[in-house]
Formats: sequence, C-alpha cells, structure tokens
Amino acid sequence: MQTTKISKINAQTKLCALIGNPVKHSMSPAMHNAAFDKLGLNIKYIALQVEENQLKQAIKGLKALNIIGLNITIPHKQKVMHHLDKVDLVAKKIGAVNTILNKNGKLHGFNTDLQGAIMSLEEHTVVKNKKVVILGAGGAARSIAFGLKQNKAKVIILNRTVKKAKKLAKQVGCSTMKLDQLDSIKADILINATSVGMHSNTDKSLATKEQLKNFEIVMDIVYNPLETKLIRLAKQAGCTTITGLKMLVLQAAASFEIWTGKKPDIKLMQKVALKKLGGTK
Ligand code: ATR
Repeated sequence: MQTTKISKINAQTKLCALIGNPVKHSMSPAMHNAAFDKLGLNIKYIALQVEENQLKQAIKGLKALNIIGLNITIPHKQKVMHHLDKVDLVAKKIGAVNTILNKNGKLHGFNTDLQGAIMSLEEHTVVKNKKVVILGAGGAARSIAFGLKQNKAKVIILNRTVKKAKKLAKQVGCSTMKLDQLDSIKADILINATSVGMHSNTDKSLATKEQLKNFEIVMDIVYNPLETKLIRLAKQAGCTTITGLKMLVLQAAASFEIWTGKKPDIKLMQKVALKKLGGTK
C-alpha cells in the first residue's frame, strides 16, 4: 500500500471532512491538508463515502463528534439542507449546500461553488453589468447563474433541454435562448456549465472557434482534462480563458476561510490539485 507523509495527529487535532458518494477521486483532502499544514493549523481533512439513506445519521454523528466543518458533494448537496440549523440565504435560493460550518454545535450551510465561479471571473473583470452566457441548466449552472445575478450580471441561459433552461431562468430572473442560437450571440463572458468536454468525451465542445470569437472571456467548469477542447478553441479565438481548476481551487479556498477565518495559500492549493491531475503548470 502506498504511504503518504502526513503531519502529526495528536489529541488536539480537529477534523474537517467531505461527504458524498463517490469521493475517492476528490482533490479536496490534498488541497485542504496542504493549506492547513502551511498555516500550522492542527486540522485534518478526510473524505467519507456516505450512502443516500445514511445521510441523516452521518450528519448527526459528525455534529456529535464536534467536527469543525464539512464539504458536501453529489448526491447530498440538496438533501443535506434538511439536517442543518441554519442555511445561508443564497444557498437557500440555489437549493444546494456544499459547505457546512459547525459553530458552537449549530450547523450552518453555505454554497461556495458560486464564489469559486465569481472569484475566478473577478480576477479578470468586474462582473457587474457584464453580459454572460451560461451553457447548461443543471446544478453547476444553477449556482453560477444565481451568483452572477447576485453580482448584477446580465445572464442568458442556453441548454440542450429548453424546458430546464426556462425553469432555471424564471427562478433566477434572467433570459434564455436556444443552444443553436449561439451563432447570433455576442457577449462579454461564456461559461460552460455542462459536463461536455470531460475526460471520457474530450473531443467535444458546445461552441465552435467562430462562435467563441464573439466573447471576451471563456470559462469552463470542467477541470479534467485541465485544458478542455472549449478552452483550447477559446485560446485560438483570442479569448481570455479560465479553467475549471481555478474554480475548483477558489471554491475550496472559500470553504477554508469559512471554517478557519483565515485565507489559505491559494497557489499551494492549486499546485497540489494540479499535481493530482497530472499537470505541471
Ligand atoms: P451538474 O449538477 O454537474 O450541473 P447535471 O445537473 O446533470 O449536472 O447537469 C448537466 C448539464 O449538462 C445539463 O445542463 C445537461 O443538459 P440537459 O439539461 O439537456 O440534460 C448538460 N449536458 C450534459 N451532456 C450534454 C450534451 N451532450 N450536450 C449538451 N448538454 C449536455
């Protein structure tokens, strides 16, 4: 069995965890443990696989064990809300929680997925008043759309299943167009919030190079591969590009700050995640 060097665990060590199913390929333990160590915090982060019918017991148990904080991933992001003492307003609107803080025995839920997206964009531009096209209307698109709306961007949702796009747009308070109307859209930002381009279908992109020439910034939520076909085409089209890895690292950093009140070393987290993904940049 492969062994990894970990810093000392003792009687004062506090715990954070990810719960989801599956969790074994998650990059969060590596990113958070490196960041805790860097700041000399005696906290460890582990990944726990929890079945759907065990969620309630798992949350109750972790609360009783006085765990500092949790990340929640698929398939528990929605249902976990029923087991919390308080849910942040935006997370409530989105209907999904990915971060929990145990504050004096009370569990508070947050959604840092949207912060990951907004912070990534704000490294390059001011989101306010920007025209943003979101491809997709699933869970990821939902967080990003609410985040953008909260930051006063003008959002247009395009999705393969039009009914889902319309439903989401109505909830967010934004507009929709059909995926095949992409040719006619010129905007500041395009975000792929679908799974298209992910490792098993890396030769796919929902937008062509010609279509991408109508956007300044192109962001992809997909981080495996590190450079998706969409990002490659966007670079060729002269756009500023933001990879899914950036979003992943910044949502993790936002969770870290909620638990510890401290800013993590973001560059270190990115380096660790890159190493796990087999990249070097
Ligand atoms: P997540 O929570 O990660 O967003 P999801 O809720 O399953 O996952 O949503 C996946 C998104 O990717 C949806 O918008 C889906 O479009 P549909 O609503 O039409 O299913 C989109 N998607 C997945 N595969 C796609 C493909 N081959 N072409 C276009 N859109 C696709």
